[in-house]
Amino acid sequence: MNPRPTSSHPDNDRDDSARPLRVLRVDASGRGDDSATRRLTASFVRELAARQPIELVERDLGAGLPFVDAAWIAANFTDPDARDAGQRATLAGSDALVAEVMAADALVIGVPLYNFGVPATLKAWIDQIARARVTFRYTADGPEGLLRGKRAWLLVASGGTPVGGAVDFATPWLRHVLGFLGIGQVEVIAAERLNADAGGLERAQARIVETLSGWAPVAEAA
Ligand SMILES: Cc1cc2nc3c(=O)[nH]c(=O)nc-3n(C[C@H](O)[C@H](O)[C@H](O)COP(=O)(O)O)c2cc1C
Repeated sequence: MNPRPTSSHPDNDRDDSARPLRVLRVDASGRGDDSATRRLTASFVRELAARQPIELVERDLGAGLPFVDAAWIAANFTDPDARDAGQRATLAGSDALVAEVMAADALVIGVPLYNFGVPATLKAWIDQIARARVTFRYTADGPEGLLRGKRAWLLVASGGTPVGGAVDFATPWLRHVLGFLGIGQVEVIAAERLNADAGGLERAQARIVETLSGWAPVAEAA
């Protein structure tokens, strides 16, 4: 579970006038360089960096993540002050993933459509970062997401399924769960039906440029 940060920011204090945009790139494809979503997340980050100083952390989920199990659940639902060393170790990977998300201003997430949903490894990532009392909490008025002040882009690829159509369960679910965690500003850029549409990837690359064409750097926008 080793990220490749170009720099790290353990705190979440913000001084938007004086620092680069903190970008967390998340890839989930089981494929390497041939992956459409990896190409799209790389393009997106490159285009963003051309418009705005950024600090990039890359989280590659391709090799998999641990699933939530009985020990994880018991540790997570133990009061933090009461956790023993073993429980703290059990949650250390999750803590690191949560810290990456908390430190980020922007999430750039590659989403290959697998069996009409997200790859299991991307689901495992969400399970690791959705932490009661850390990234969301329940209040008298209902659940409240604690990942505030962030936005996300989903760079989605499919072979034959229309993205946003009736049997794409990946993008509506991701929108919902990210919103649940407090990230309501989620934009989808899709290279869809690539098996039938050879130009789909190039059009998605063009959409990235289009999407970012009006980008105002954070330092100027603040
Ligand atoms: C295990 C697996 C399941 C897939 N399931 C679907 C699917 O349900 N619908 C679809 O349109 N494409 C499906 N595909 C095709 C991928 O979405 C497509 O190849 C896409 O480019 C994957 O992203 P990547 O190139 O970044 O790996 C599947 C591919 C794999 C490997």
